[in-house]
Amino acid sequence: MLFDSHAHLDDERFNHEQDEVIARAAAAGVTGILNAGADMESSQRAVRLALKYPNVYAAVGMHPHDAKLMVNDDYDQLAAWACEPKVVAIGEIGLDYYYDHSPREIQQKVFIRQLDLARQTGKPVIIHDRDAHADILAIVKDQGKGIPGVFHCFSGSVEMMREVLKLGFYISIAGPVTFPKSVKLKDVAAQVPLDRLLVETDCPYLTPHPYRGKRNEPAFVRLVAEEVARLRGLELQELAEAATNNTKTLFGLT
Ligand code: NI
Repeated sequence: MLFDSHAHLDDERFNHEQDEVIARAAAAGVTGILNAGADMESSQRAVRLALKYPNVYAAVGMHPHDAKLMVNDDYDQLAAWACEPKVVAIGEIGLDYYYDHSPREIQQKVFIRQLDLARQTGKPVIIHDRDAHADILAIVKDQGKGIPGVFHCFSGSVEMMREVLKLGFYISIAGPVTFPKSVKLKDVAAQVPLDRLLVETDCPYLTPHPYRGKRNEPAFVRLVAEEVARLRGLELQELAEAATNNTKTLFGLT
């Protein structure tokens, strides 16, 4: 019983293979997949995938990379999608100061407006944070009050984890936790309270060991969960059940 809380099955690397990839995930014990949008086109594809596959859910949102493309009508479109039954979150949204594909002020503005959208539509948020820890925390503290959500593919320190937990957010652990050099992330994965922990693949990116370098897919969330369980001295089953229940609680799935 596993749940991949963050995937991009709509990515062109899965074209014409989605049936097989979803079947392999089911065979690996993955009972649910949340497909995150990253721009308007992929958000639309996420909505369609969720309609097509019973165990796939959608999030819609504009990733910070393309924040500069966001126009007013896009917020209305996101709000309309957010009302569809299998659209369970606004995401992925946030800040990315590693690539800086959009100017930082625009990333911040678009992030804040999508937090507003989450509040208006009553949806949780999926936050992308790369090298923007301080600004993300400041914005969420200031503008995100009362909005539930998750820091996806968490990459901060244990100290940052504590700040995120104080804000009521969940922490999602992805494939890099399996890399031998991810000492900081292994620390975080060992210490997140069991009732605040999610697991994900972020596929097709961030493929866990020993498949690093190949395309990632939801079945590999098992490798992430196995490593997190090992770090905590838990059985896979116990970890998987907790993470799956957390995912369902956060996103309102029954
Ligand atoms: Ni992602």
